[in-house]
Amino acid sequence: MLRAGPPSHTLLRLPLLQLLLLLLVQAVGRGLGRASPAGGPLEDVVIERYHIPRVCPREVQMGDFVRYHYNGTFEDGKKFDSSYDRHTLVAIVVGVGRLITGMDRGLMGMCVNERRRLIVPPHLGYGSIGVAGLIPPDATLYFDVVLLDVWNKEDTVQVSTLLRPPHCPRMVQDSDFVRYHYNGTLLDGTAFDTSYSKGGTYDTYVGSGWLIKGMDQGLLGMCPGERRKIVIPPFLAYGEKGYGTVIPSQASLVFHVLLIDVHNPKDTVQLETLELPPGCVRRAVAGDFMRYHYNGSLMDGTLFDSSYSRNHTYNTYVGQGYIIPGMDQGLQGSCMGERRRIIIPPHLAYGENGTGDKIPGSAVLIFDVHVIDFHNPADPVEIKTLSRPLETCNETAKLGDFVHYHYNCSLLDGTRLFSSHDYGAPQEATLGAHKVIEGLDTGLQGMCVGERRQLVVPPHLAHGESGVLHLHQGSSQ
Ligand SMILES: *[C@@H]1O[C@H](CO)[C@@H](O)[C@H](O)[C@H]1NC(C)=O
Ligand SMILES: *[C@@H]1O[C@H](CO)[C@@H](O)[C@H](O)[C@H]1NC(C)=O
Ligand SMILES: *[C@@H]1O[C@H](CO)[C@@H](O)[C@H](O)[C@H]1NC(C)=O
Ligand SMILES: *[C@@H]1O[C@H](CO)[C@@H](O)[C@H](O)[C@H]1NC(C)=O
Ligand SMILES: *[C@@H]1O[C@H](CO)[C@@H](O)[C@H](O)[C@H]1NC(C)=O
Ligand SMILES: *[C@@H]1O[C@H](CO)[C@@H](O)[C@H](O)[C@H]1NC(C)=O
Ligand SMILES: *[C@@H]1O[C@H](CO)[C@@H](O)[C@H](O)[C@H]1NC(C)=O
Repeated sequence: MLRAGPPSHTLLRLPLLQLLLLLLVQAVGRGLGRASPAGGPLEDVVIERYHIPRVCPREVQMGDFVRYHYNGTFEDGKKFDSSYDRHTLVAIVVGVGRLITGMDRGLMGMCVNERRRLIVPPHLGYGSIGVAGLIPPDATLYFDVVLLDVWNKEDTVQVSTLLRPPHCPRMVQDSDFVRYHYNGTLLDGTAFDTSYSKGGTYDTYVGSGWLIKGMDQGLLGMCPGERRKIVIPPFLAYGEKGYGTVIPSQASLVFHVLLIDVHNPKDTVQLETLELPPGCVRRAVAGDFMRYHYNGSLMDGTLFDSSYSRNHTYNTYVGQGYIIPGMDQGLQGSCMGERRRIIIPPHLAYGENGTGDKIPGSAVLIFDVHVIDFHNPADPVEIKTLSRPLETCNETAKLGDFVHYHYNCSLLDGTRLFSSHDYGAPQEATLGAHKVIEGLDTGLQGMCVGERRQLVVPPHLAHGESGVLHLHQGSSQ
């Protein structure tokens, strides 16, 4: 029953035979139409459905294209034909007269993976003539059939979403680059390929001709983390040619897909402010030195790195190429104390090769950043006078003066470090004698007795890059 099979003694109709059979069918219909109940000639195909699969998404209809295997025997059990002997199954349109009528009728309503026995009376088979050397005249034929595939020229790609994550940051569009896992099977469940055997995701462009047409369509609209079943008719897959030894000609394909990652080569860094402290006046610019915490994860939620695991902020200059370009861009414009999400496409991160064993090639990176503080090496001490006793302020502190003062010292995020009040007595120092940090020395100058000031001292005018570990009285100075 192959369209281009070996010498066709098989059950495809020959034109001459067809004509003969037509006459025959009519003759039989008139003459022997009323079949006798007990052992008399059959009027129609007898169908015995001895295995019906639990799920049957589709039943064979007239005009459908089917692929099936069969064994053909006579009543006595003797085999006269079998698709198995030719190691290829039958792939043909059903119900349009390309098969013997008994087969055309017998396949109707069948499900994929169903097994049937068909008993075909001679007038729906090869009639009173038979096939020379193969099928004697007036033979009743017995067929055991298993259906493996059914599709139709009107079919489209069928997409069903099996699981969709509650949060969908973006959906696949044409020209996007995607990374996904898949299991590919034929319609009867035979596995032909899987991404899992290759130790990584399948990575490709969508809608750019790299994939079979059906896959290009079936991936559209998918979110990272979504699972889909995509059923593709052969004309949107590998068609008549099939693929290697694994995908037969005219086979429908079923893909179970899990989308891991999606981005577009045109993407830029995406920012989302998660928390913005009130009263932010200064925003980070290129050249600033920043201390921040971060959690870095992939689009599917896998955490690949976190500053918290090191119990230490990540400290770096921003916008100077010390960090990946996406981060250099994404940190700028942030405020101290701000929490922002920075989504970085691979071309602004680790590119198509990825890095280490945690960041795969072409991976989008999502950083949740908490900006602790930043300053600029050019920053001077920031001096803000809180109160000043005007009437008594006839003299201000200058270089060489000996001063007594109280202070509270904290980090920019409010963490209290040390205070002169803890020691009972005020601090004392000679200005300009390098007894206190440079910033404090500068900030004390010009003060009058009774004045209160707030000094913001950048690290290069304080304890520098190394900071101080152990505090004791005086070390703050
Ligand atoms: C056809 O016969 C072979 C060999 O006995 C058997 O393995 C196969 O399952 C049969 N096919 C059908 C559709 O019954
Ligand atoms: C593919 O099959 C494996 C094994 O059954 C399963 O663990 C995995 O989740 C499947 N993947 C998809 C995308 O369905
Ligand atoms: C970070 O601090 C926690 C809690 O104090 C500790 O258990 C952990 O070992 C520290 N990790 C590192 C890398 O120092
Ligand atoms: C990625 O790896 C390939 C093969 O190792 C190498 O030829 C290529 O230059 C790398 N690309 C980048 C951007 O590093
Ligand atoms: C990083 O993750 C930890 C643990 O989930 C969380 O406590 C912390 O707030 C996160 N940091 C940022 C900047 O999102
Ligand atoms: C500054 O003013 C106070 C009070 O008005 C006064 O007692 C003191 O002598 C003045 N000092 C100088 C140096 O003028
Ligand atoms: C330091 O803090 C304490 C407690 O809040 C406060 O009483 C004191 O006035 C502060 N000192 C200065 C110099 O601001």
